[in-house]
Amino acid sequence: MPKTVVITGASAGLGAGMAEHLGAKGHSLVLAARSHDALDRVANEAMRRGSPRAVAVETDVTKRGDVERLRDIAIDTLGGFDVWINNAGRGITRQALDLTDDDFDYMMAVNVKSVLYGMQAAVPHFIERGGRGHVINMSSFLGRVPIATYRSAYNAAKAALNTLTANVRVDLQKTYPDIHVTLVMPGMVATAFGRHALYSPPDTPPYAGPYVQPVEDVAALVARVIDEPVAEVYTNPSSAAMAQRYFADVGAFEAQGIRWGSEPASVR
Ligand SMILES: NC(=O)c1ccc[n+]([C@@H]2O[C@H](COP(=O)([O-])OP(=O)(O)OC[C@H]3O[C@@H](n4cnc5c(N)ncnc54)[C@H](OP(=O)(O)O)[C@@H]3O)[C@@H](O)[C@H]2O)c1
Repeated sequence: MPKTVVITGASAGLGAGMAEHLGAKGHSLVLAARSHDALDRVANEAMRRGSPRAVAVETDVTKRGDVERLRDIAIDTLGGFDVWINNAGRGITRQALDLTDDDFDYMMAVNVKSVLYGMQAAVPHFIERGGRGHVINMSSFLGRVPIATYRSAYNAAKAALNTLTANVRVDLQKTYPDIHVTLVMPGMVATAFGRHALYSPPDTPPYAGPYVQPVEDVAALVARVIDEPVAEVYTNPSSAAMAQRYFADVGAFEAQGIRWGSEPASVR
């Protein structure tokens, strides 16, 4: 059944890919990010592919007021929403011992507080409309197994996001069983995420290699999760086994020196 879906971080990468995929499936969209022109292009492409309506809303997810305004515009222009995807996020390329206060605060603001604002904006709307709806939080495998040490505060932020997501899900379960809360943990996906990460060299190439998933695969998985909600999901089929190995013996796992794909030259 066609739904109305809010997606943050929809001007590029995974968010844009999800908008285009969900648009093609006939869902209406409310798309948020800071880059208005890029958002407009994604909205037009989603409608060209079959979305009945795609609205672009310039939003900085680190500002609670912006996220509440996004919610209000979605309600005023499309009569409400069924799914809210907290996808906006940003990485960092700096080891933990080198982090400044500002680095840490920014990673928490853009990757965790933004999602808290999103959940606090969306869930009351779901309750008001009869206790139905779906929050989907885009985390990372690194939030569960922090193997890329150069992502430091990003890993920590995604780990915090995993915890908050699980807590909100359990809090809602008893009273509102039809409000679903899903955590999505991608591995490496073919976007410019690595280049956009704070302190990444400007010539950082897009993620590439056999372990890197196409955006379309992750978008299709999110579409399936909307149809059949689950508590959490890894997007890469190899991630669950790696997480099991990690938690079985963290020291032994770390001693193997497993790396996270291709590391940026600046951190080798
Ligand atoms: N690509 C991967 O390998 C990978 C792996 C695991 C998890 N993830 C997660 O997937 C999500 C999407 O990442 P991606 O790969 O698509 O990265 P991306 O290509 O860099 O896109 C990031 C998106 O987030 C938006 N954004 C950043 N800061 C924002 C802010 N303050 N307010 C509003 N929007 C903001 C950007 O738009 P504007 O700049 O226009 O605001 C852009 O649309 C992130 O949460 C990321 O952590 C990605």
